[in-house]
Amino acid sequence: MRIGVLTGGGDCPGLNAVIRAVVLAGDQRHGDEATGFLDGWRGVLEGRSISLDPGSCRDILPLGGTILGTSRTNPFAAPGGAEQVVATIGSLGLDALIAIGGEDTLGVADRLGEHGVRIVGVPKTIDNDLSGTEVTFGFDTAVQIATDAIDRLRTTAESHHRIMVCEVMGRHAGWIAAHAGVAGGAAEILVPEVPFDLGEVCERLALRHERGQFSSIVVVSEGALPADDAESARVATSSKELDQFGHARLGGIGAWLAGEVERRLGYEARVTTLGHVQRGGTPTAFDRVLATRFGVAAVAAVHDGEFGTMVALQGGEIVRVPLGVAAGTPKTLDLSLLEGTGAPFLA
Ligand code: F6P
Repeated sequence: MRIGVLTGGGDCPGLNAVIRAVVLAGDQRHGDEATGFLDGWRGVLEGRSISLDPGSCRDILPLGGTILGTSRTNPFAAPGGAEQVVATIGSLGLDALIAIGGEDTLGVADRLGEHGVRIVGVPKTIDNDLSGTEVTFGFDTAVQIATDAIDRLRTTAESHHRIMVCEVMGRHAGWIAAHAGVAGGAAEILVPEVPFDLGEVCERLALRHERGQFSSIVVVSEGALPADDAESARVATSSKELDQFGHARLGGIGAWLAGEVERRLGYEARVTTLGHVQRGGTPTAFDRVLATRFGVAAVAAVHDGEFGTMVALQGGEIVRVPLGVAAGTPKTLDLSLLEGTGAPFLA
């Protein structure tokens, strides 16, 4: 078969491991030929692609980013986009497409099925907020990077008796904050799922300090908001411009929080925003293995004719779920994760 592959949305450690697995599994098991589209759906719209063979995938397993490039282009954002995708796929003689992405990329994949495009999806995002799969690759790496950062923040926080606010990614969901916060022993973990009460956060921090803990780590997701002033905080921490999928760029809640804590408590507070550091660099072993399993499974799904599905991890096994599941409601944090971990949360 001739199989096209693309990576869309924010990049994520493990993308190259999926590409490699798709190419190798297709070549070795089925004699497939692979074509890689450049820069996600933008490359499909513009007809920009390269051919991929086992040689082009040598040494990419541990490489961060994506050798294909990515974009947040939405083919449905402009009239005629879907028809253009169909035309490109037809002109290259592709039998199927493997789309590696998050809710946006896979949402497009799902809709393209209605236009007759034969697609299998692979779930990707450091945020871990895709429904249908217990874990997305990239998440483990992001958590490890954030945990390492928190460990480093702790020693400087203790030296200066400061409150260190660490802002992590997580647009709709607090998975990274919760896992890195628990792993790093944070005093407070603030997530988008539970609007926080700033007064209560400050009270708890003050109590810790009164009891002799002269430093505290506060981990906050970029999407977390204070309960009492959610709307103005949302405006202050969201970009005005939206991407083609209607998302604002988030950032700033950590700085706001550090300022408020310092103002209310009089303790010195500093903020560190981890940002794209969480998405860069080499994937962990866990993510390489998961990404490889997903890539191999996606090729198998293509050969089984299981189009309109996404490969997913459930109970340790790779399964297939409808693409629409991934494109639907985001998978929010299981709040029980935070119970009894030492970090209070405000459910
Ligand atoms: O891919 C998910 C994500 O990393 C979110 O956590 C974050 O809000 C967003 O992407 C950032 O996107 P960009 O790279 O376009 O700034």
